[in-house]
Amino acid sequence: MEIAVSYLKSQVNKETTIKKIAASIADYIHVDLMDGLFVLENTGSIEDHLSILKNATKPLHVHLMVENPHDIITKIASLKPTTIIIHKEIPNFLEEISYIKTLNIKAGLAINPETNIETIFPYLPKLDEVLVMSVHPGRGGQSFLPETIAKLKTLNKQKKAQNLAFKISIDGGINNETASLVKPYVNILISGSYVCMSDDYNKQIAKLKNS
Ligand code: DX5
Ligand code: ZN
Repeated sequence: MEIAVSYLKSQVNKETTIKKIAASIADYIHVDLMDGLFVLENTGSIEDHLSILKNATKPLHVHLMVENPHDIITKIASLKPTTIIIHKEIPNFLEEISYIKTLNIKAGLAINPETNIETIFPYLPKLDEVLVMSVHPGRGGQSFLPETIAKLKTLNKQKKAQNLAFKISIDGGINNETASLVKPYVNILISGSYVCMSDDYNKQIAKLKNS
């Protein structure tokens, strides 16, 4: 089980949080970017994120909650992230998935709680990852939506049926208890406040890994 840690909601500032994640046993730094259009929240200019992430010593797992990701993809590609994930709910998702792949970066599709999982089945062969949102995107610190479990089961069945190898990640409200519920169905746990609102990142990450 891999763990990606989001620095969206933390006890300390972004720079310090990123350093602490980089120094931890996490597998990835999960980068949440929002534009105030796709979601109400806005995480500010991409340049600010680039400058605080440029020296990060841990693979980056990028989650774009933005309506028009093209320019952000171009800019964040300079950091050589492992994966860039965009949302199924945006108009040009298919073109942008192809674009991410041309940059030699793994491409993922995220799906909101209210979007039927079946709507992504035709695109699964093109994907390196599917990120299932277990909260409504926008803020850290929300509660896990239990109906997500059924979605994960359906997605796993379809992955087997199509004999595909994409990774499945889960994002939102992940703590030691919700982690144990989703573990059989996912490859990557994305967790924010459970780790970054604590004093001991490695202790929390170990609890996620062992849950
Ligand atoms: C929500 C973000 C998540 C969030 C996770 O819009 O995509 O990555 O930061 O934070 P927690 O774990 O606090 O729900
Ligand atoms: Zn996220």
